Amino acid sequence: MKDFRIKKMLELQTPYYIYNMKVLKETLQTVAIEANKYGYYVHYAIKANANIQILSIVQEMGFGVDCVSGGEISAAIDAGFSAEKIVFAGVGKADWEINLALEHDIFCFNVESIPELKVINYLAHLNGKIAKIAIRVNPEINVYTHHHITTGRKENKFGINLDQLDDVIDIIFMLSSVQLVGLHFHIGSQITDMVPFKLLCKQANEIQKKFIRRNIDLKHINFGGGLGINYENPDEFSIPNFQEYFDVFNTYFFALNNQKIHFELGRSIVGQCGSLISKVLYVKEGSVKKFVILDAGFTELIRPAFYEAYHVIENLTSNEFADVYDIVGPICESSDCFAKQRILKKTHRGDIVAIRSAGAYGEVMSSQYNCRRLPKSYFF
Ligand code: LLP
Repeated sequence: MKDFRIKKMLELQTPYYIYNMKVLKETLQTVAIEANKYGYYVHYAIKANANIQILSIVQEMGFGVDCVSGGEISAAIDAGFSAEKIVFAGVGKADWEINLALEHDIFCFNVESIPELKVINYLAHLNGKIAKIAIRVNPEINVYTHHHITTGRKENKFGINLDQLDDVIDIIFMLSSVQLVGLHFHIGSQITDMVPFKLLCKQANEIQKKFIRRNIDLKHINFGGGLGINYENPDEFSIPNFQEYFDVFNTYFFALNNQKIHFELGRSIVGQCGSLISKVLYVKEGSVKKFVILDAGFTELIRPAFYEAYHVIENLTSNEFADVYDIVGPICESSDCFAKQRILKKTHRGDIVAIRSAGAYGEVMSSQYNCRRLPKSYFF
C-alpha cells in the first residue's frame, strides 16, 4: 500500500481500485507451486475479478478459467485463455451461452439439472458436437460462512441432489450428444476452516463408488473453489495457505488411476491484491455518533452492505490519534455503510482512505446505481 505514493493517490480521481501486482504474482506463483506438487489443475474463477489486466496475468501464468456466463466465456477468450481450459457452471445457462461454449469446444460444462442436461444434449446435437459434461453434485454439506455464499446444502439451488444421481446417470446413458467426463462440486465461499473440505472429500469418495458400480469412468473431479482469505490481517496473511488446502484433497480424496483433479479458485487468488481508494467528503458529528462520509459507496464495493463483510479500513493521510466512526458512503440507502463504530485515525475532509482485501468481488460487482460512474483501476 505504501508503495503507491500518497501524492499520486491525491492526484487521481477517487473512488478507484488499485491492484498490487507483486501480491498478485506471488499469490499465483504460490498456487502454481502448491497445485503442481500433486498435478492439480487450477481454473481461475473469473467472477471474482474480470479486470483485463488481471486476467492477462492469470492467463500468462498458465491457469485455466471457470466461467458462469457467456459474457465470462467471451472475456476469457478475449484475454487469451484457451477454450480447452474453460469450465462452465451456472444453474441458468441460456441457449446462446450453451451455443457459444459449444462453438469454442470448451473443456467441460458443469451441469446443474436434468432439464439443463437435456437442453445441452439437444443443442450439441444441432451443432453436430458432443458436449463434455461433468455432473455438478450438491454434496449436502453445511458450511459455516455467510448464508448468501453457501452453495452445497441440500436446499440450495445449485447442483443435483444425491438422491437424483441414479436417474441422471440413466438419462445420460440415453443421450447421444453428451459425454460424461467428470464430477463437479462447489460448497461455498470464504471458507477458512479445512473441515468442510475434508467432509467434501469423504463425500466425494462415497459418490465416486456409485459411478464405479455403474462402470463409469470419471476422468476428472472438480472440487470448485471456496478457500477464504484473511480479511482481518491482509498484510500479514497476504497469501492464503494453499499448501494446507491442497494437502487436504491429497490426503482425504482417493483419486482413481489417471484421474485429474481440478479446482476453481477465485477469492484466494485475487482477494488480497486489491484495495478500494476513496476520499473523505465530510466528517459529520451526529448527536450520538461521528460519521466519516466517503465518496465510495456500495456501488463500488457491495460486500459490507450485502454480506455484512468485514474489510480493514485505513486512513492513509492522517497521523493523528484515533477516534471512533461509522464509515459510510454517499448512496441514498441506510445499508450503504462500510463499518460501524470503527477505530480510525482522526479523520478530516480530504483524507484518503483505503478499504483493503477488495480484489475479489469488489470492482466486478460495482454498479451504476444513483447514476454513478464505474470506478477506474490502477496497477502498481
Ligand atoms: N466455482 C463456483 C461454481 C462458484 O460458484 C464460485 C463462487 C467459485 C468457484 C469461486 O469461489 P471462491 O474461490 O472465490 O470462493 N460475492 C461473494 C462470493 C460469491 C461466490 C460465488 N461463487 C462475496 O463477495 O463474498
